[in-house]
Amino acid sequence: MRIRPVSAVTSALLGLSALFLAAPQAQALPAAAPAAKSSQTAAPLVIGHRGVPVRAPENTLASIDEAADLGITWVENDVQRTKDGALIVMHDTTLERTTDARRRYPGRAPWKIADFTLAEIQKLDAGSWYDRRFAGERVPTLRRYLQRVDHNRQKLLLEVKAPELYPGIERQLAAELQRAGWLNARHVRSSLVVQSFSAPSLKAFHRVRPDVRTGFLGAPKPAELRSYAAFADQINPNHKSVTAAYVRAVHAVRGAHGRPLEVSAWTVDNGDRAVALARMGVDGIISNAPQVIEEALEEATDEQEEDDGPLSILSFLGL
Ligand code: G3P
Ligand code: CA
Repeated sequence: MRIRPVSAVTSALLGLSALFLAAPQAQALPAAAPAAKSSQTAAPLVIGHRGVPVRAPENTLASIDEAADLGITWVENDVQRTKDGALIVMHDTTLERTTDARRRYPGRAPWKIADFTLAEIQKLDAGSWYDRRFAGERVPTLRRYLQRVDHNRQKLLLEVKAPELYPGIERQLAAELQRAGWLNARHVRSSLVVQSFSAPSLKAFHRVRPDVRTGFLGAPKPAELRSYAAFADQINPNHKSVTAAYVRAVHAVRGAHGRPLEVSAWTVDNGDRAVALARMGVDGIISNAPQVIEEALEEATDEQEEDDGPLSILSFLGL
């Protein structure tokens, strides 16, 4: 998780305070100074949901390139399996909405991914439905997608989509990640989180690769969080169900790797809502318009720092 640094002025003043104030006073400072504390709060990570689908077709290489161009490091995707066992990146369990499958393969409704081979899927146009500028964009294999994320120096929140349709996909995913070089120490430590709406699937993946961080998509009751923490590091709910109390409850439980469970809320495209969620303490915000959310959070941080300006910091330090 990225920590937004405090401003240079705030940092210098807080450093000065450490020199001037005796330890008991310094310890008492946070409780008496909520504004100063807010300047040091970790800003949530902003994650591009399926890339940047407000600018490029979702779950394509173009979409993650767009994210890279905007300086968005983390992207989210959805992984499913073809009839002949290839892992590909697509959200819907059918091909119809985000490709030209209906035109190219008439008579094969409802165009389930699982009914088509990789060769058939790779003939599809996954860009024209979105905009003619993206004509010829292909449905990426997971392998090519991982290569591009690496090439762009990005990081990946990988969703195992509808795993009940693809028995054994967890073990297969682990093998594919391994082949692609995504299970080395660097990726495992800082570049990969595997998430799913399916607790059984996450448990299965965690059994195969307990070193990889995982996220459960949903909002289990606080009393149930400990059971999820046995196999998850994140609890990622629909943003509508997030409250400050819920975030506190999640953070109070340690996840599968011994650190407090994190919260990434989806799908947030409104800047004000993102700022409200940041103030509730969420760790991540998953958005179709990550650049809008980044800007809103930066603006809110700047305003906060102005409010926390040198005079107010000096006054609550008693200097
Ligand atoms: O990452 C959260 C979000 O992707 C879950 O919903 O339907 O967009 O996969 P969905
Ligand atoms: Ca998803």
